[in-house]
Amino acid sequence: MPTPRTMLVTTALPYANGPIHLGHILEHIQSDIFVRYHRAIGDQVYYVCADDCHGTPIMIKAHNMGITPEELIKQVGVSHKADFDGFLISYDNYYRTHSPENQYFSSEIYKKLRDDGYITTRTISQLYDPEKNMFLPDRFVKGTCPRCGAKDQYGDNCEVCSATYDPTDLKDAYSTISGAKPVLKESLHYFFDLPKFNEFLQDYVHNSGAISTAMAHKLDEWFDQGLKQWDISRDAPYFGFEIPDTENKYFYVWLDAPIGYMASFKNFCDQKGIDFNEFFKADSTHELYHFIGKDIVYFHTLFWPATLKGAGLRLPNGVFVHGYVTVNGAKMSKSKGTFIQANTYLKHLKPECLRYYFASKLTSDAVDLDLSLDDFQAKINSDIVGKIVNLASRCAGFITKRFDGKLAAEPFDSELMAKLSAIADTVNQGYASRNYAEAIRAIMGLADEANRYIDHQAPWVLAKEEGQEEKLQRVCTDGLNAFKAIITYLSPVLPEIYIKAQEFLNDPLEFKNAATPLLNHSINKFTPMFTRIDPKAIEAMIEDSKKDLAAMNATASKEPAAATKSKADGATEYEPLAEEITIDDFAKIDLRVATILKAEQVEGARKLLRLELDLGFEQRQVFAGIKSAYKDPAALVGRQVVFVANLKARQMKFGLSQGMIMAAGPGGEDIFLLSPDAGAKNGDRIH
Ligand code: 2FM
Ligand code: ZN
Repeated sequence: MPTPRTMLVTTALPYANGPIHLGHILEHIQSDIFVRYHRAIGDQVYYVCADDCHGTPIMIKAHNMGITPEELIKQVGVSHKADFDGFLISYDNYYRTHSPENQYFSSEIYKKLRDDGYITTRTISQLYDPEKNMFLPDRFVKGTCPRCGAKDQYGDNCEVCSATYDPTDLKDAYSTISGAKPVLKESLHYFFDLPKFNEFLQDYVHNSGAISTAMAHKLDEWFDQGLKQWDISRDAPYFGFEIPDTENKYFYVWLDAPIGYMASFKNFCDQKGIDFNEFFKADSTHELYHFIGKDIVYFHTLFWPATLKGAGLRLPNGVFVHGYVTVNGAKMSKSKGTFIQANTYLKHLKPECLRYYFASKLTSDAVDLDLSLDDFQAKINSDIVGKIVNLASRCAGFITKRFDGKLAAEPFDSELMAKLSAIADTVNQGYASRNYAEAIRAIMGLADEANRYIDHQAPWVLAKEEGQEEKLQRVCTDGLNAFKAIITYLSPVLPEIYIKAQEFLNDPLEFKNAATPLLNHSINKFTPMFTRIDPKAIEAMIEDSKKDLAAMNATASKEPAAATKSKADGATEYEPLAEEITIDDFAKIDLRVATILKAEQVEGARKLLRLELDLGFEQRQVFAGIKSAYKDPAALVGRQVVFVANLKARQMKFGLSQGMIMAAGPGGEDIFLLSPDAGAKNGDRIH
């Protein structure tokens, strides 16, 4: 037996201003399976999370709701915890970053960094809301894109043409908080000197084993561009911790968020009398693992290790990155009802259905995971009900009725019994390396085998034959021992069914003994442990998710300060008409019919798809900012579109873009490509 390990496992801290949805739940299920597995094999695992409470959006949301940020985070904290409990996530502590422990650690770490020369200051100019008297984060400034002229674009990038820019480049900029025109204002900011950690970080990322090779390769792009100093201060008003020895300067939320991992653990250690310092001292032999999504890799693999290193603390042993959840092949969409909140799911379906489905598809790669609702229903009904619970129910009745609940003293088929232990290595390896799909494949292979065996031995026939008593008992014992192994191997994934199986089999079902058959052993009466998913439950969940959207919209419209420019002006919500043009002006735009020949993702681009188009007389390449609405680029191939054929070609980071395809909608998920009626030919001009 290997020596038990001691580890601390964390998940990314959810922001305290919105509901938990299935996109979050993937990470919590992924980490919970890892934790339950390690606990099952005898490791000492501590598992913590917290709400991420600071920053402007939370401050604004509380203000709009007419409550204090403290009240908001209290309310949200209770509902987040209930959601995670509902999904059977076994946290030792679920805390909040707005806590005395976190303030203490953030201040101490900052002071150490400052005293060792890792903090610099300089004055920068930023957009400022003169009505609300506050600096505006990029996301709180909107205006007209300086490149394509699209209205109501965010301060950092245009969702229509994908241009990236500074908020100061926007035309007609306005504050989304008050609608006022922002002004430029100077203020002193504090920076963490990340470039000083360049060498250390390159070594950590490539040689420590904490970061996967694929992720390390991606991080090389950042190293190649050169690390930049990191702005860690924000001016008042800000909901956060004041920076020691400053006036009205606060830590940027991302400075204290990961320190929140330490704070949550410290809060737990203090309750339980655990030695916290043993975990976080530089030479700790305990292990530290962070589960995160691919959008926050930079924070966890560069800023966070550099912060820890600078503060003389231990480093993470692993930063495990997962992809996003899609539903039915597309980004979760509020209008389609596939933006599913955790509590809405739990009203209609059992947590273990999703736990099993995610587990059956999870690998250690940071790729997106699709929740295809038809496949979900089919897989749960076929695997959990059809192959696992049924295996027990087919054998249990005979043991109870004919043998007074007593299993046979000998197995009947020792070959089947050998198969129970033959998959142990694959199962262990799968869980330990986060390739849960591999573990589940092996376990379900065993379930298939056991079901074939029962089909073949047909206990219901043996039960009617003379002189087959002993064989009947031994065959059913084999079936139940296969069930025992299967459910024990699946215990990290299906913790509630596992508890029911312990009760039924009258055994603690220890993971290390999964393959050891129970013989000459009394079991309890079988009661159904799980029922099939009714498709109506899925439909009802989708319908409820649409209602959640309506409720959210209703709340948002009650929030007084969520201004858009047009609302603030008292005008309609439609984009105002552009300046009048003549027919000659219009004739300058050469619009053509074109067919999409190829559509693909662009590595490293958040919003773009690369398209190849047939214009009849020639082919063109275009980078279109439509990825958020067209998740599955292959589905675009063959589609006719309206193409701006005489737009000046533009050299982009990813290649030359030779025109533009036309679409309606405000952006994000709501981008709608235009197509001509059937019959139009490629190259036809549109008048
Ligand atoms: O991206 C997010 O949702 C952040 N609240 C995650 C923080 S993780 C950690 F650093 F606290
Ligand atoms: Zn634009």
